[in-house]
Formats: sequence, structure tokens, C-alpha cells
Amino acid sequence: MTQLLEKFVDHLPIMPIIQPVKINHGIPYYEVTMKESFQKLHHDLPPTRVWGYNGQYPGPTFQVHRNHPIRVLWKNELPEKHFLPIDHTVHGAGINVPDVRTVVHLHGGVTPATSDGYPEAWFTRGFQQGGPYFTDPIYEYPNHQAATSLWYHDHAMGITRLNIYAGLAGMYIVHDEEERSLRLPEGEFDIPLLLQDRSFHRDGSLYYPAEPDPPVEGVTPSVIPDFFGKANLVNGMVWPYLEVEPRKYRFRILNGSNARFYRFSLSNQLPFVQIGTDQGLLRKPVPVTRVLIAPAERVDVVIDFSRSAGETLTLMNDAASPYPQGKSPNPKTTGVIMQFRVKKKLSLPDQSVVPQTLSRYEIIYEQQANNQRNLLLNMRPDQYKRSIHLLNNQLWSDPISEMPRLGDVEIWSFVNLSNATHPIHLHLVRFQILDRQPFDRDLYEKEGKIVPTGPRIKPEANEQGWKDTVRANPKEITRIIMKFVPYAGLFVWHCHILEHEDYEMMRPYVVVKK
Ligand code: C2O
Ligand code: CU
Ligand code: CU
Repeated sequence: MTQLLEKFVDHLPIMPIIQPVKINHGIPYYEVTMKESFQKLHHDLPPTRVWGYNGQYPGPTFQVHRNHPIRVLWKNELPEKHFLPIDHTVHGAGINVPDVRTVVHLHGGVTPATSDGYPEAWFTRGFQQGGPYFTDPIYEYPNHQAATSLWYHDHAMGITRLNIYAGLAGMYIVHDEEERSLRLPEGEFDIPLLLQDRSFHRDGSLYYPAEPDPPVEGVTPSVIPDFFGKANLVNGMVWPYLEVEPRKYRFRILNGSNARFYRFSLSNQLPFVQIGTDQGLLRKPVPVTRVLIAPAERVDVVIDFSRSAGETLTLMNDAASPYPQGKSPNPKTTGVIMQFRVKKKLSLPDQSVVPQTLSRYEIIYEQQANNQRNLLLNMRPDQYKRSIHLLNNQLWSDPISEMPRLGDVEIWSFVNLSNATHPIHLHLVRFQILDRQPFDRDLYEKEGKIVPTGPRIKPEANEQGWKDTVRANPKEITRIIMKFVPYAGLFVWHCHILEHEDYEMMRPYVVVKK
């Protein structure tokens, strides 16, 4: 079906900005209701059943300002049955719990534990039932953090992959004075691009496999190793186009796919600049022609169309799936993301600039670390002979092992024994990537020793800013450094390939008060 869909026939939707319902003692108060709706995702597809925040897929965009807290009541008015296949053998998704559970996490938000959307803090329609960690359903977001693009999405234990696939994701943008002083493109020239892949049935409904191929004996539906859709969507539209003026635009690009990586570039190799990472602006703009993003990573870029008047540029993707050892995308389908048509007249002279100094964040040095941890990314078969991805060989239900003290600086070294790159995400903290180093995996398997086979390599310039999700490549040790502030409490860290996260590649961790 998907192969037959024509590309670039729908224009790019821009998510509406959500407004607060009221202001309570100076704090904006929002209400968001998760609802089922039917939405056109392509001109030639019948309306698709989606689950969206306020019934919209993607959800409405939050625009907030640093140090101005907000509160949000997240409500669930979804049906009681899921329309995607639940695997009840997955931890936390058993037949003893309701099928449709939701809990919202603000990804990249520096949020107190009780508002962070712990996977077991789920709730059902009308708050009829709540999980073991259910808290006050009005979440508080302090927004004490640097300007950047965050996103909010579902995080319910064992069904996150299905809830996000159904449509439960949206953008959350933090502004601050530093950013405002720069005169980057803004307003209608500052556009979020939420990239996701999906597959469809002929009737327009979303397709998500009920089992892997070949199937697993004794389990249907069964979780699959990773999902790759046949079409790319941007802001909830299949292969859209955007008409632009011959000037600079800022694009906040988020990979919101379950498992697909994107390495995007423009069809004519037009260079552009990257100005920010997951957690904020870079020190200096970095000129690039292509950029890789794993699920949940964000990149902030400026594309200057001023010398491309009259041209049509296609945003291409050449990242293999699974990444990096899988198949290359089809240049006619998944190798294409969207189109920019430089067709509009310049409405006003372009006064935006990309200054040579963007931000002056502090660097965390290795010498500052109070503690360091080696954490394996490994696999083992489950009782049905499916392979489970694990963090340090532990299940979700194993006792908590990562307990950094509040205020401590730690180095975490991810030792990837698998064949895939895993985007590892920690809640609460922002971190910096120290380096990546190859090691001898065969030797590790034989003798349990971690022996490097090459030097430690610093991340590329466009990965040197603040991050909250890092690509840990196969046969490499990836080291990150962070300070565990400002809240103590119970959080999680996990791989952001949603099929991995749901199936044991997620662990609780606790920040302990000193
Ligand atoms: Cu984007 Cu734990 O999540
Ligand atoms: Cu997160
Ligand atoms: Cu993974």
C-alpha cells in the first residue's frame, strides 16, 4: 500500500500552539486530553485512527520560557481496548493490568520525579485505575533549563512502543534570554519537524506487526525486535512539502520514530548549519551537509534558502535500518523525507543571523567525576528463545543498582556487546559525551575482559553540546559525564528504540539525597 502513495502531495502541517486554560497564582495551567480521532495522513489515504493529545497527532506544541513554570493536567479519554497488538508476556503489560494505560513523560525536561512520568505511574481512562507509582495527575514543569526543543510522549510500562506509534507525541519548546539575544530565525521561520515512520493498511489504518517474521512459538502477539515503517511522516503527514521563502529558516528536527535512524541531507548537497543539540545551543554553529539522528535525538539547524530561489530541495535519508548493520533505505521511499519548494516571495528582508558565538555553557571535566560505572549493553535469549536486550545484564524487575548521590558527577561507560547502535537516554540530567573507543568484543566474550583496540575518539563538533540521548555504537565504549542535579528521587534510564525499551532495555535509577 505504502509504496503506491504519491510523495509531496500534502503540505507540511504545523502543530498548533497550546494555550493555558487559566493562570493560577501566576502559573499557567494547561489541560490535555488523550483522545482517539480519525485524521488524514495523506491525500490518498482514508482517515487514519490515531490517538492524540487533545485528539491531535502530533500533539499541540508547548512554547514556554526558562524559569517560568507551568502545570499540566494530563487526562486519558482513550478507548478501553488497544487497537495495536499487545504482547502480554512483556513485563508490566500482563493480563492482570488494563490494556490501555498512559503516562506522560517530558523528554529532556528537568522535572521532579513525581511529575516525570515514571513508567509504573500510569493511569487509565478517567483515572479509574492507577499504577503502583501513580501520583497527582497535575504535573509540574519548572522549566529551569536552557532553551531547546524537548518533546512529550507516552511512557507506559510495556506498551510505550504502541502508544507512541498510535500518535501520543508532541513538541515542547523552551526559550530563554540567551537565545532571544541572538536574532536567529523566529516566528513562522522557526519550524519544528517531527520525523516518524509508519506503515498503513489499505483502509488507511496504521499497520504494526503482531509478531516478528518468523513468528515466535507460543507467543502471539509478540513484541518484535524493532519496527521500521514503509513511509516517512513529518508532523503527522506522509512525505509532505513545505513552500519556503528565499531566506534563512530554523528547523528543530526530532526523530520520533520507534527504531529508525535518519541521516539526512539535502538533495543538492546544500550545506546548512547545526546550531543546537538535544539540550541546547552549541558553542558555535557547525557547518554540515548531513546529520545522523537516532530515535529521541534532536538537532537544531538553520538552512539558508536565499541562493535557491525557484528550486526544489528534497530532504533525503541514507541511514541503514537497523543502524548501522541493516539495509540501506529505498531511495524512492524511506530514503526520502520531505520537500522544500523555494517558491514564495521574500515577505520582508531577512534580518536573522547565525552568530559565531551561540552559547557559553561550561564543560564538565573528567577530573570532576566522583564515580564511574561500566554498563554493558548486552543480549540474552528469553524463555521463548527471543533475544532480549538488557542494560548491564539486568531486568527491569532486578534491584536498583544505579544510585548516584545528589550533586555528584559521574561517568557512565556504555560497553556495547550487540550489533546495533542503541540510543541511551537518562531522565532528569543533561550530559556531555566524553568519547567513544573500540574494544575487542570476542575477547570480552571469551575472557570477560574489556580491552580497547584503539584510541578514545572525541565526539564530532556537532555532538559536543549538551545531550540527553547518546548513540552507543556496537563494539565501542561510549563515555558520558553528568552531574546528578537538581532533584533526588526515582527516575529511569533506557534505550530509546521503543521495542527495546518496552522489552527490558530500561532500568530504574535513584538519585539519593546526601
Ligand atoms: Cu523519551 Cu524515557 O523517554
Ligand atoms: Cu526522557
Ligand atoms: Cu536498543
